[in-house]
Amino acid sequence: MHYLKKKIINKKIKIAVIGIGYVGLPLCLRFLKKGYKVYGIDRDKQKIDSIKRKKSYIASIDSKEIKHALSLGFQVTNNFKIISSVDVIIVCVPTPLYKNKTPDMSYISETANKIKNYIKKKQMIILESTIYPGATEEFFLPILKKNKLVPGKDVFLVYSPEREDPGNKNFTIAKGNIPKIISGFSFNCIDLAETLYSRITKIVKVSTIKTAEFTKLLENVYRSINIGFVNEMKLIANKMDINIHEAIKAAKTKPFGFHAFYPGPGLGGHCIPVDPFILTWKAKKFGLMTRFIELSAKINDGMPQYAIDVLKKALHDTKKKLNKSKILILGISYKKNSDDIRESPSIRIISILNKFKCKVFFSDPFLKNKPELRNIEKKIHAKNIILNVRNLKKFDASILVTDHDNFDYNLIKKYSKIIVDCRNRFNKKLNKIYLA
Ligand SMILES: NC(=O)c1ccc[n+]([C@@H]2O[C@H](COP(=O)([O-])OP(=O)(O)OC[C@H]3O[C@@H](n4cnc5c(N)ncnc54)[C@H](O)[C@@H]3O)[C@@H](O)[C@H]2O)c1
Repeated sequence: MHYLKKKIINKKIKIAVIGIGYVGLPLCLRFLKKGYKVYGIDRDKQKIDSIKRKKSYIASIDSKEIKHALSLGFQVTNNFKIISSVDVIIVCVPTPLYKNKTPDMSYISETANKIKNYIKKKQMIILESTIYPGATEEFFLPILKKNKLVPGKDVFLVYSPEREDPGNKNFTIAKGNIPKIISGFSFNCIDLAETLYSRITKIVKVSTIKTAEFTKLLENVYRSINIGFVNEMKLIANKMDINIHEAIKAAKTKPFGFHAFYPGPGLGGHCIPVDPFILTWKAKKFGLMTRFIELSAKINDGMPQYAIDVLKKALHDTKKKLNKSKILILGISYKKNSDDIRESPSIRIISILNKFKCKVFFSDPFLKNKPELRNIEKKIHAKNIILNVRNLKKFDASILVTDHDNFDYNLIKKYSKIIVDCRNRFNKKLNKIYLA
């Protein structure tokens, strides 16, 4: 343990990050900038090739940063052999849900299986993916046992959930201003994790791995439930002809007891729609129901349909029918200034519109990745178009689903016939603007 601790302090360790996506890649860049040798391992050859060509595949990371990282010695590979030569292994692979909303842990078990043949004494294994309480030990202790390695003595097992919020410019892994929760199998494991992560950010220690795993779920369930609540308040306010955003703005002037959450067209991304169900699944094993989780999910799930209902009313006001209309979706990623389309409400909205057989197009300046774009266009019948006067004039209505900062809002306001605004971006009241 002292040997590894000294090596971390002297920046002599080698770190392998497995899974260099939205979480893993920024983490690699942060450790590189702090002077550590970092290897990025990913099974996605496109990502490996992209890094080798000095190109970023994440909107919030500039290609210049990749170039700089390579000049600092960043190496990427899909070969797990490199694990045998590193000191720290950090796992950042996906933890999605199956269609029946139970956790798909196949990426975690596949990773554990792959590293099994290369782990050895004096290494630290850290899991950062979001998982249910108990999963770190469930998946990683057996591979240590198989290699006759004693956890906490030969190999150090740690869980540290990631809190990255891609597109958020104020709090980033790069700035090191998001405190990190850490815990480990034993006191030594926690001590080593503290030594490592305190090089890149502030840390918060909790006594057990299970507590750290639960804390991450607590944070995201809290968010999904509060969004569900504020979405329900939006439905009530809209019916009463009250602007929910004005009410939230006023309510948040209360200096205590109120934390603002904002309504929208539905949940998206890899965390908020997913993580609550990871807990639901685990709670059921203890004979417990997660009623808040299921109720808020139901409300949030209804939001894409609500946007369509508002659109139908808006078209009706101009004597148009949805099935004969041409609709433009503004923003396809699930959150603003991001290119992440996972679970995006825009895709839900388009697939509902596709059932009505109206003509649907979308515009998203953040979606530049051609192969991924082709995949979306296969799943939904809609094409990406450039936002300009000529294009805007062609549509019967525009729905602002994702309010990217680089949209030209004056242009949209001037040339759209109808605007369904799911984000309260057009605060000037015009007859053609419908808040959804
Ligand atoms: N995206 C976020 O904002 C965010 C925030 C906090 C926590 N998380 C959690 O972090 C984890 C990773 O999320 P992400 O958004 O970075 O996912 P991602 O899909 O962007 O990246 C995961 C990467 O892992 C790779 N991968 C999958 N299986 C692999 C394997 N067996 N070997 C090597 N590489 C493999 C994939 O190719 C992909 O590049 C998830 O558990 C997620 O819930 C994500």
